[in-house]
This record gives sequence, structure tokens and C-alpha cells, in this order.
Amino acid sequence: MGPVTFARLAVEAGILPFSGERAAKSIRERSFMEADYWHQRWEQKNIPFHEGRVNGYLKIYFERLKCNKGDRVFVPLCGKALDIKWICDRGCEVLGVELSPIAVTEYFEENAIEHRCSRETPFDVFSGGGAALLCGDIFDMGPAHFEGINAIYDRAAYIAFDPDRRRRYAEFFSAMLPKGAPFLLLTLEYPQALMDGPPFSVGEAEVRQRFASRYHVEHLQTRDIIEKQPHFQQKGLSQLLAHAFFLTDR
Ligand SMILES: C[S@@+](CC[C@H](N)C(=O)[O-])C[C@H]1O[C@@H](n2cnc3c(N)ncnc32)[C@H](O)[C@@H]1O
Repeated sequence: MGPVTFARLAVEAGILPFSGERAAKSIRERSFMEADYWHQRWEQKNIPFHEGRVNGYLKIYFERLKCNKGDRVFVPLCGKALDIKWICDRGCEVLGVELSPIAVTEYFEENAIEHRCSRETPFDVFSGGGAALLCGDIFDMGPAHFEGINAIYDRAAYIAFDPDRRRRYAEFFSAMLPKGAPFLLLTLEYPQALMDGPPFSVGEAEVRQRFASRYHVEHLQTRDIIEKQPHFQQKGLSQLLAHAFFLTDR
């Protein structure tokens, strides 16, 4: 039997109507297109999602994750977020995953963190300063990567995907993440008709629907952040709700 991949899990979960090589090929083709989109954005430095400072909700709610020194926090689609360093500075380890080698190398270089790179197919792994960042596609991760994960912090990862991929992401998480690891999930909500994603609009109803089979969902806080977001104002938005959710196993 081959490795437990997302393609296999997707078929088993009934997400894909066909199996085997055909399912894997369909996922691969779509992944290449999406990967191109993100690689281009990093190459063109078109990265308004990069906050350049530590996320406010992370600072407020990190303690809810009850991380002790040495605990491992999974940060999906991590970019070069300063959140990674902030979590490491609290004595935790970060396991990140990010498609763009530009993002990953800039994270270490801009923060002057000594690092090394090794190949763990299909990922290049950049490690240093308490973080191990897998450079590659999150859907290529397998159960072994998730062993020892104590908590999950998702900022702009779930909402980076279109509705179909979000469904797959939620299924993937439910299948892969170790039991008992709390999950801080940050989303944005706005009238989707006014703007194409990413980021896609995700509110409380969707989070509850997508994650309820595994998690108890607590809606921690909502703020309208449009005034500080000229990039979104230019796209015609007059409201941009930033939500924080706390997910714990049922
Ligand atoms: C909206 S950005 C968020 C980055 C980061 N979480 C932050 O707060 O700045 C989404 C990131 O996910 C990466 N990405 C997109 N699809 C991915 C995938 N399938 N696997 C791994 N990384 C991916 C992109 O390159 C991009 O850096």
C-alpha cells in the first residue's frame, strides 16, 4: 500500500468520485495551477497579506493554545509571517509549510536567523531558530509530519483556498491532525460578490459547518478592520470582518 496522501484520503472520504491514478492526476493538475499563482505573487512581491508585524489575535489568544516550552505548533501556509518567530520566541517549535521558496528564505534572511536546508522528498526543509519550514504543497504532507503537533495556528491559510479546496482542507485536517491539539483559526469575512478571493470570505456559519464534525467551535472575537486596510478599500469593500475562532476536539 502506498503512502497515505491527500489523494487517497480524498477518495476514501468520497470527496473525489474517482480513484487511483486519475484522482491523483486531477489533484496534481489543479495544484500546479494554484502553485503558479502563488509563486508569481511572491516573485512579483505582490504580498499585501504579509502583515510585517505579529498578528494581534495571535498575541491575544496564543495562551488559549496552552503551549508549553518545546511544544510544536503547526502553521499552515506560513508565508514569511513574523508570527513564526514570535511563537518560537515563546519557547515553542514551529512546523510551517509554504509553497514559495522565496517566502521561506526571506523569513530566515530578514530575521537574521541562521538556518540549514535539507531535502525530505517532496519537501525542502529549512530549519533554524526553532522553526522547520517545509517548502512544498501542504497536501503532500502525510501523518508522519503531524506527529507531535500540540497546536495549530492558521492565519490566512484556510481563507487562501476557494470553496472546493476549503472543503478538502477541512477534510485533510480532520484526517491528519493529532487528537487533542487546539486550533486557532483566523478568517476574514466580506461581501464575496464585491471581490474575488483570495482571501475568500469565510464567516462563522461556514467554520461551524466545515469543522463541526470533529471540533467544538468557539467564536472568540470579531473586529471590523477595513479602516486599516486601504488595499481592500480600493477593491470596493466598506467592511472587512476579522474573526478569531478556537477549535477543540469534541
Ligand atoms: C494568504 S498567504 C498567508 C501567509 C501567512 N499565513 C501570513 O499570515 O502572512 C497564503 C500563503 O500560502 C501559500 N500557499 C498557497 N497554497 C499553498 C499550498 N497548497 N501549500 C503550501 N503553501 C501554500 C502561498 O504561497 C502564500 O504564501
